[in-house]
Amino acid sequence: MHDTADPFFEPYDRDEIAYGDVPSAPIAAYLRQVIGRRVLDQQQNISHAIDLGAGAGRDTIALAKAGFLVKAVDLSQRGLDRIMQRARNAGVDQRVTTQVADVRQVDVPPGSHAAIVATTVLDHIPAEDAKALWQKLADGLRPDGMLYVEVHTTEDPGSDQEPGCDSNDPVSETADAVINYFRPNQLARWATDPEARLRILKYEERLEWDYTHGPEHLHGKAILLAVRAGFHPPYYGQPAAFPQRTSQ
Ligand SMILES: C[S@@+](CC[C@H](N)C(=O)[O-])C[C@H]1O[C@@H](n2cnc3c(N)ncnc32)[C@H](O)[C@@H]1O
Repeated sequence: MHDTADPFFEPYDRDEIAYGDVPSAPIAAYLRQVIGRRVLDQQQNISHAIDLGAGAGRDTIALAKAGFLVKAVDLSQRGLDRIMQRARNAGVDQRVTTQVADVRQVDVPPGSHAAIVATTVLDHIPAEDAKALWQKLADGLRPDGMLYVEVHTTEDPGSDQEPGCDSNDPVSETADAVINYFRPNQLARWATDPEARLRILKYEERLEWDYTHGPEHLHGKAILLAVRAGFHPPYYGQPAAFPQRTSQ
């Protein structure tokens, strides 16, 4: 049944599910280079991951395939149903659980997670709630944990602020759900605040064309891949610029 209260029901109900099935590139690179290597070294124990605002699960499925036990959280029941469908198709449904919940209410105990992902959800909640959730996520990392955050920025043509609001470029069909566009450097400042106890592996603010749902459109994004300060994985690059010849 169509859930009229869920603005993402129809995009997730499509045969070609919105946002596609390709995971966020920095996460894919991290899983291939860091987690893949640790599995090879047989150093990895069971690790918990959480995907907040998981949508239809392109990042959830990548994490599960890499061996994580993943909890996918979203307000959209339809999105979570598609995640379980994809997880069964990929043979990783034993490693995926779903929770219909507001990300602001989710329990993320300090030091509990090896991977925390929030791909475009901190921008779907009010600014003060986003900051509180951010601190919970930073605190939630294990000493060898990885945090990935992606947000829309004020460069996005859907933004109500400059420069995005002055743009004539096409706006995303789901732009109305974004209520908290991040300002230049804002996510970087959060990540470098000593209270976050993070070390940045990758930070970028960029414009990107999106062909994964609805009519093609432009996005302004900030992306962050960070680990707990003091964690030094053997190799990470995205793209992999100078990999060791024998690495996977
Ligand atoms: C732009 S989509 C991104 C989906 C997915 N992370 C991806 O990159 O494919 C944003 C998602 O955040 C979810 N969302 C928005 N506000 C939320 C909230 N307060 N709690 C939980 N999920 C929320 C929406 O239902 C939607 O699935």
